[in-house]
Amino acid sequence: MRILILGGTGEARELAAALVAAGADVISSLAGRVSRPRLPDGPVRVGGFGGAGGLAAFLRDEGITHVVDATHPFAATITANAAQAAAEAGVPRLVLRRPGWAADPSWAVVAGIGAAAEAVARWPGEGVFLTTGRRDLGAFAADGAHQFLVRTVDPPDGPVPPRMTLVLDRGPYTVDGESALMREHRTSLLVTKNSGGPMTAAKLTAARDLGVRVVMVARPALPAGSVSVLAVTDALRWLEGTPGRPSA
Ligand SMILES: NC(=O)c1ccc[n+]([C@@H]2O[C@H](COP(=O)([O-])OP(=O)(O)OC[C@H]3O[C@@H](n4cnc5c(N)ncnc54)[C@H](OP(=O)(O)O)[C@@H]3O)[C@@H](O)[C@H]2O)c1
Repeated sequence: MRILILGGTGEARELAAALVAAGADVISSLAGRVSRPRLPDGPVRVGGFGGAGGLAAFLRDEGITHVVDATHPFAATITANAAQAAAEAGVPRLVLRRPGWAADPSWAVVAGIGAAAEAVARWPGEGVFLTTGRRDLGAFAADGAHQFLVRTVDPPDGPVPPRMTLVLDRGPYTVDGESALMREHRTSLLVTKNSGGPMTAAKLTAARDLGVRVVMVARPALPAGSVSVLAVTDALRWLEGTPGRPSA
C-alpha cells in the first residue's frame, strides 16, 4: 500500500499521524498556500500538481495505491481534480470531510461567496466580520458602505474591501476571545463558510450570544460518485478494507 493524503486540514494531519504510527507508506500533499503550514507526520510534498492530468501522472509515477482527499470542504478544485485523476489512474479515492456545522434557523445560508457579498451589500448595519479567507476578499472590494473586520492566516495579496481592519490569526479560538473581538469592532454581521469542526466554531456561539447575524456560505457539492466519510477512524477502516491499485 502507498497512500497519498491530499491535506491542509487537521483531519489530514491526524490521519497521517495514525498511518505513520502504524508503519504505513504514506505521502501528504500540501498546496503551499500558507507561509508557515502545520506539517503532518511523515513525508510531505508541497505545491500544485499541474491540474488533474499532473495529479494522475503523479499517482502513476509514485506507485500510489490509495488516495484520501482530506482537503478543506471549500477546496473544490483540488477535490474535482482528485476525482478525475484517481479515475484516470485507476486508484481508489476516499473523501474525508468533517461534518458541517448543524444549521441554525437564524442563519442566512447562501450558495457562494458572491451571494454572501450581495447579502452584505443589503445589510443596514456597519460592522461586518469576514472569516471567509483571504482569496475571497475580492468579492467585497466594491463595498465602501461597511467597515470590515477581516481575519486571515496570511496577509491578503489581492483586492480587499476599502474599509478594512485586518487581523492575522489561525485559531483555535475561544468564545470569550471571539466575543471580545466582535464587541471591540462593533460587529453586527458575521460572514463565514460552513467549514465545520471545533477549531473555528467559537465565533458562532459568540455571534448567537451577542445577537450578531450570521451569513453562512454553504459547502460546494462533492464530485459525482465520491465515497466520503466524516471521521479519521472511518478513513482508516476504508483503507483497511479497500483493495488498492497494484503498486508499480
Ligand atoms: N479553501 C479553504 O477555505 C481552505 C481552508 C483551510 C485550508 N485549506 C487548504 O488549503 C489548500 C488550498 O486550498 P484551496 O481552496 O486554495 O484549493 P483549491 O482551490 O481547491 O485548489 C486550487 C489548486 O491548488 C492546488 N492544491 C490545492 N490543494 C492541494 C494539495 N493539498 N496538494 C497539492 N496541491 C493542492 C491544486 O493545484 P494544481 O491544479 O496545480 O494541482 C489546485 O488545483 C488545500 O490543501 C486545503 O485543504 C483551504
